[in-house]
Amino acid sequence: MTRQSAPDAVRKRIVQLQKELLDHDYRYYILADPVIPDEEYDRLMHELIELEEQYPELRTPESPTQRVGGKPTKEFPTVTHTRPMLSLSNTYNEDELYDFDRRVRNGLKDEDVAYVAELKFDGAAVTLHYEKGVFTLGATRGDGTQGDDITANLRTIRSIPLQLRYDRFKFDKLEVRGEVIMFKDDFIALNKYREEQEQRPFANPRNAAAGTLKLQDSKIVAQRKLRFFAYQLLGEDVKSESHYERLQMLPELGLPVNERFERFTSIDKVISFCRKEEKTRDELPYEIDGVVVKVDSFRQQEKLGTIAKSPRWATAYKFTTRKAETKLSEIVVQVGRVGTITPVADLEPVLLGGTTVKRATLHNADEIERLDVRIGDTVIVEKGGDVIPKITGVVKEKRPKGTKKFSFPRECPVCKSEIMRLEGEANYYCINTECPAQIRGKLEHFVSRQAMDIDGLGEAIIDQLINTNLVTTPADLYDLKKEDILPLERMGEKSASNLINAIEKSKERPFEKVLYALGIRHAGQGVAQMLAGAFGSIDALRNARVEDLTNIHEIGPRIAQSVAAFFQEENNVEMLDRLEAAGLQLAAKRQKKKKQTLNGKTFVLTGALDTVTRDEAKTLIESHGGKVTSSVTKKTDYVVVGSDAGSKFDKARKLNITTLNEQEFMSMVKD
Ligand code: IVH
Repeated sequence: MTRQSAPDAVRKRIVQLQKELLDHDYRYYILADPVIPDEEYDRLMHELIELEEQYPELRTPESPTQRVGGKPTKEFPTVTHTRPMLSLSNTYNEDELYDFDRRVRNGLKDEDVAYVAELKFDGAAVTLHYEKGVFTLGATRGDGTQGDDITANLRTIRSIPLQLRYDRFKFDKLEVRGEVIMFKDDFIALNKYREEQEQRPFANPRNAAAGTLKLQDSKIVAQRKLRFFAYQLLGEDVKSESHYERLQMLPELGLPVNERFERFTSIDKVISFCRKEEKTRDELPYEIDGVVVKVDSFRQQEKLGTIAKSPRWATAYKFTTRKAETKLSEIVVQVGRVGTITPVADLEPVLLGGTTVKRATLHNADEIERLDVRIGDTVIVEKGGDVIPKITGVVKEKRPKGTKKFSFPRECPVCKSEIMRLEGEANYYCINTECPAQIRGKLEHFVSRQAMDIDGLGEAIIDQLINTNLVTTPADLYDLKKEDILPLERMGEKSASNLINAIEKSKERPFEKVLYALGIRHAGQGVAQMLAGAFGSIDALRNARVEDLTNIHEIGPRIAQSVAAFFQEENNVEMLDRLEAAGLQLAAKRQKKKKQTLNGKTFVLTGALDTVTRDEAKTLIESHGGKVTSSVTKKTDYVVVGSDAGSKFDKARKLNITTLNEQEFMSMVKD
């Protein structure tokens, strides 16, 4: 039997429904002016789904019913960006915005300049490709050159049109860049749900948005209510030569643009805009972390060009940290991997810049004493960027009656051993190297992503490995056999093999990661990298004297002592021998490092440089072993003087410190 083709009436109805729904999306997401209630929208959608099911030949990929579909992907294919996706230099205060303006004007030989100021959304950058008005490909920013093809996930975001509106403009090929974000309300609801499901909550809306985009099942993505704001329109046949005009074209194409953008002809007005937005940021239903300032004219953008990975024609003005008040309900004392005793505050949950804060570090006993913080107090919590929230003050007026000063424990809260304080250090340590908290902490650190990156060794498994005495030091991990771990709770055949494979694979981790994984006190990632670069092997490091270590710029006596002490401990040497025998990388494969020609030299930067930004100049100095400080003192070796230099230049002359002009400076850091 041949299937009947669709009657004309049905054909018409389907086309009409598709168009109507597209229009309602447009009204809802772009104009923020819906004309029908949600139930009515759902009813229309249902009708369309049913008709398309009956007549699948009329279902087009752009139909609003086709946002979710297909099977979960295993891996995202890599996409090479047609034009790199750049990042932005940062500015943190008005002076730096003035510096930016000065650099722009210098670069443009004093032409008139107009800026567009927009909100800086705190989400994940993506790029969308449209061909003949149809959404064909969407990708993450990745490293700026290559990203992941996440088309299926992006299709589920209702503010991303699958089909552009072509009333006024028709472009063959378009690329639209913008930010995928999660609104604060949706973020809070998602985290609540995750906690109910005993899943780890996301730290902030940005992580939630970025994490969701990387999910392999687009059905879950569709439930997460992500949003999109466009901020860049690229395309050969787009004629407009100004960013401001293009921002206005985007909504006409059906693409959502945040309406709080403005064009200014003076940096002072840009600064007022930044101030105003910083004040009102919390009133927005989504997170922003600053304002992006862009030169409006493309001709001028081109003239200014790009340095390293960021354009000279734009900058991000970053907002300062935020504070919130909440109640401290408990002080919990934790024991870290090197035995450090850290007091942590349990707080009544409070929203701080879109993140729910429940805990904050109190650093050490002195800090508690200094703040005189007590259980029951109302405290001030601060957070900047990604750092752990901190308690910065107590609202003494709100202190309830009958509180007591907090008394710091005199013994390790886990193993009850003696605790002590090293000279010149603020922290107490548990002196028992076999303290279960330390063993556990060391293992967790060793397997963590930045260290040996051993997947599948979560807290629960580590606890079991310790409790069954299978593992007491990281070296024991490399003796594990599948039979050893199979009897562990919730350990199946497959996960056991995966774990053994992950352990095996970690043997390829480079020396600097191994060095970091060892968890030497005070040797964080940066220090480990520096030590690996300078010494090249564990043997060389083991034989280094304290003064060999302190000769390296940035390695002070505290780190040097701690490294030396690590190698003096017999247990550690024994563990290293075992790790070496297991085949871990205990020497660097090859060194590719800049010559440390500025070793030990201190620089101060003043005024605007033409060819590099302040951040870039700093990176150049540091990569050659030098250091940058903010004020000129007797210890300063060089002052780099750009245009419009201020009082630092005068101070340098007074103190007789060598000054360098841009050319002289650049020649010192050129290789
Ligand atoms: S423009 C060359 N505009 O900030 C300019 N970026 O550090 C490229 N971002 O990766 C970006 N809001 O994720 C631009 N209004 C905005 C933005 C914005 C947020 C993010 C974006 C980008 C990062 C750059």
